[in-house]
Amino acid sequence: MGLCRRRLTWLLLLLAVIAGTLLSRYPAALRVDSEPRAGPCRRSVRGAVQQHPRFQRLFNLSAPVLLSEDLLTPELWARLSQRKAPYGWQGLSQQVITSTLSLLKGSDGTELFGGRWRQRPRCVRCAVVGNGGILNGSRQGLNIDAHDFVFRLNGAVIRGFEQDVGTRTSFYGFTVNTLKNSLLAYRSLGFTSVPQGQDLRYIFIPSGIRDYVMLRSALLGEEVPEGHDKGDRPQKYFGPDASAGKFKLLHPDFISYLTERFLKSKFIKTKFGNLYMPSTGALMLLTALHTCDQVSAYGFITSNYKKFSDHYFERVRKPLVFYVNHDLSLEATLWKSLHEAGILWLYQR
Ligand SMILES: *[C@@H]1O[C@H](CO)[C@@H](O)[C@H](O)[C@H]1NC(C)=O
Ligand SMILES: *[C@@H]1O[C@H](CO)[C@@H](O)[C@H](O)[C@H]1NC(C)=O
Repeated sequence: MGLCRRRLTWLLLLLAVIAGTLLSRYPAALRVDSEPRAGPCRRSVRGAVQQHPRFQRLFNLSAPVLLSEDLLTPELWARLSQRKAPYGWQGLSQQVITSTLSLLKGSDGTELFGGRWRQRPRCVRCAVVGNGGILNGSRQGLNIDAHDFVFRLNGAVIRGFEQDVGTRTSFYGFTVNTLKNSLLAYRSLGFTSVPQGQDLRYIFIPSGIRDYVMLRSALLGEEVPEGHDKGDRPQKYFGPDASAGKFKLLHPDFISYLTERFLKSKFIKTKFGNLYMPSTGALMLLTALHTCDQVSAYGFITSNYKKFSDHYFERVRKPLVFYVNHDLSLEATLWKSLHEAGILWLYQR
C-alpha cells in the first residue's frame, strides 16, 4: 500500500514536471487561454470591457455585426440612403442592394458562427492575422493555428510562411477593391489566389456598389453582369461553393459605429475626409472583438513598427508608409490600449 502510494506520488510529480516544461514553451497568453476550453472563459472581451470605464462607454456588444435581408427595413433604407459612401447607400442602386440582401437571410446571414459552427466551443478564441512585417521570422504559426477561428485579410500570403503565420483560415475579410489590389500588387510576392477551403467564410466589407454586385454574383454563382467588375467570375476568387452560409456582409451601421467610436480620425475633418476608412485589418480585428470571447492580434501595427518591413512577405525590406486613407497611428494607439486593458492580446515581439 505504502509503496503504491509512493509510486503514485512519483508519477504525479513526474507528470507535473512534464506539464510544466511543456507549458513554459508557450507564451503566457496562450497558456491562460488554453485552460477555459472545457468551461466558460476565464477571461473574456466582455468581462475586460466591463472593468474599463473608457472602453465600457465605447463598446456596444449588442450592435448587429452582419447585415442580411432580415434586418433590411424601410427605416434602415431611409437612413442609409441619406448617408454617403463608403458606408452609406447614398446614390447606390436600391435594386442591387435589395436583390443582394434577399440572398442573405436566416441565422446563417446574421451570425458569424452560424450553420454547423453553432456547435462551437463555449469559449471562442480567435486569432486575427494582419499582414505586418513584424510576423517575418516570428515563428507564431502554431500559436495562431491553435485558436478556434483564424481571421485573415487582403494579401494574406501563407505558402512559404507557415511557420510564421500558420496555415488555417476561418474568415477572410476584404473589400472588392482591396482584394483585387492585393492580387495585383502582391502576386509576385506569392499572393496568387484568395485563400479557399470548405470551412472558410468570406467577410465582405461594403465600401461601394461593387461589393454588393460582386457578392450577389458570388451567391448566384454567376458572372458579374455589370459595373466595374463586369465579366469577373466570383468562383475564381472564392471557389466553387456558392452557398449562402459561405458569405457574410458587415453591416454598414456596424462599420460607422466602429469608425465613430474607435477610429474617429482627425483626417475625417480634412479635405481627405472622403478617402478615410479604418484599415481592413482594423475592421477585422474589431469584428473579432465583437464576436469572439478571446482575441489575439498578430501582424498589427505596434510601436516598434520601424524595425520591420511593411509586410511580412516582402523579400526586400520596405518601410511602412502612412497615407491619409487610413490612420495607422490612431490604430496603433488603439491596439496598445486594448492590450493594456486586457481586452485583446497583441503580439509585439
Ligand atoms: C447598442 O446597439 C443596439 C443595437 O443597435 C441599440 O439598440 C442600443 O441602443 C445600443 N446601446 C448603446 C448603449 O449604445
Ligand atoms: C525577414 O527576416 C529575415 C530573417 O529572419 C531577414 O533576413 C529578412 O531581411 C527579413 N525580410 C524583410 C523583408 O524584412
